[in-house]
Amino acid sequence: MTLGTSTAYHYKVVRQFAIMTVVWGIVGMGLGVFIAAQLVWPELNFNLPWTSFGRLRPLHTNAVIFAFGGCALFATSYYTVQRTCQTQLFSPKLAAFTFWGWQLVIVLAAISLPLGFTSSKEYAELEWPIDLLITVVWVAYALVFFGTLMKRKTKHIYVGNWFFGAFIITVALLHIVNNLEVPVSLTKSYSLYSGATDAMIQWWYGHNAVGFFLTAGFLGMMYYFVPKQAERPVYSYRLSIVHFWALITLYIWAGPHHLHYTALPDWAQSLGMVMSLVLLAPSWGGMINGMMTLSGAWHKLRSDPILRFLVVSLAFYGMSTFEGPMMAIKTVNALSHYTDWTIGHVHAGALGWVAMISIGALYHMIPKIFGREHMYSIGLINAHFWLATIGTVLYIASMWVSGIVQGLMWRAINDDGTLTYSFVEALQASHPGFVVRLIGGAIFFSGMLLMAYNTWRTVRSAQPAQIAVAAQMA
Ligand code: HEM
Ligand code: HEM
Repeated sequence: MTLGTSTAYHYKVVRQFAIMTVVWGIVGMGLGVFIAAQLVWPELNFNLPWTSFGRLRPLHTNAVIFAFGGCALFATSYYTVQRTCQTQLFSPKLAAFTFWGWQLVIVLAAISLPLGFTSSKEYAELEWPIDLLITVVWVAYALVFFGTLMKRKTKHIYVGNWFFGAFIITVALLHIVNNLEVPVSLTKSYSLYSGATDAMIQWWYGHNAVGFFLTAGFLGMMYYFVPKQAERPVYSYRLSIVHFWALITLYIWAGPHHLHYTALPDWAQSLGMVMSLVLLAPSWGGMINGMMTLSGAWHKLRSDPILRFLVVSLAFYGMSTFEGPMMAIKTVNALSHYTDWTIGHVHAGALGWVAMISIGALYHMIPKIFGREHMYSIGLINAHFWLATIGTVLYIASMWVSGIVQGLMWRAINDDGTLTYSFVEALQASHPGFVVRLIGGAIFFSGMLLMAYNTWRTVRSAQPAQIAVAAQMA
């Protein structure tokens, strides 16, 4: 095809989202390290409401999930959908709106959460005016994504796009249903639901935010970037289709495992438990499909740190989706719930899977969208890989130990029926785990700083002419 904007992919928005992924990754994980330090040294709360753990924790979760993870998903989905459909983005103006709209949502979250404005629903804390803005941006995102799919020049829709599509539709549904609320002022609203119904709706949302935001979207990423980086076709296309339908059919039922031993009807809890156990099958189907894509290319792991990021992320995905179903078993949950075991599970998925697959995908994509052959330094990618892996392992191992110790100490009972340990004793026993988690988190975070430097050096050396050529359709 000839050179010129009419035959070029729209990479500007991809570049913007990619850069902001790195920026928000540093902000969100930096906040993670800070709140981890607060748990070690409570003085770091500074006795101020704005800097208290209770306000900064939701800021961390929103920053890493929606700012870091969200920007990574926008960037990679806009990149993948154009390349696999051999067409340009439908409405680049609307795509630009999604970029600026999403950044505005993030800035509003960064202001309103420390000020204490919250709907108090986990992962859906933002107040109603921001919820409305999210809805508008998300509808624009859906229009751009599905509009691009509709004008595709290829015959069939590549499986990665199925996952991205399911993620976009389901997140819209979850966001709207869970955030139905009655505003009483600009900064305060009350949920439309009450009691156990409210809890059920919240965890239907919460679990599927994991299932569709933190899983389906990143599986879309996996199905594009693993085969690309390994230079091999997906191991089994048939398995990927079975994986897709099984995953989206099962995830939606598992929410009640967050509400074991609560006022939720017992049958609903048991249903959530059984569906979570069944969910192991499609999760591992996807993991195996990704891993086996490396058949015949395993030797590349020796020299390619980007591929290492992608494969190790799949290993952590496999690990956390084994652990999750186990924790959903009621008797196991009786021990793990409320403890750091949950926090360890969360970060096995969040650091090991979500962050590592995003980092691998970005290292693959950044040179391509900025017209470079490769990243500025492969050695720095390698160093980042080891920092991320060691950081994740320290984080989750310390939380397992700490979580199980907490669970066992809380339930220990003397012969006369009194508690063996006070809460403070269990807290003291958790302290070493908090310290190791802080060290692990700081190590992971330092890897992100290397990434920022590597990205800056790569981007800085890119020339506008090379960027234009890079966008030419193959
Ligand atoms: C340097 C990296 C990170 C550090 C040091 C860190 C640290 C923390 C800390 C200290 C907490 C609070 C734990 C508690 O309440 O006991 C937390 C919660 C959480 N973090 Fe992170 N985090 C990091 C990265 C991430 C990433 C990348 C994600 C998601 C993609 C993430 C998602 C979450 C979630 C969802 C929670 C809430 C867990 C729950 O309520 O069960 N974190 N993090
Ligand atoms: C088959 C897959 C999975 C199942 C069945 C599962 C199951 C569970 C269970 C039983 C809990 C504890 C609920 C509680 O005691 O309150 C939990 C918590 C959690 N899981 Fe998973 N999990 C899975 C995969 C994942 C993955 C891949 C991620 C991240 C990418 C993840 C993120 C979370 C988060 C953020 C929480 C904490 C929610 C909260 O209380 O704030 N899970 N999961």
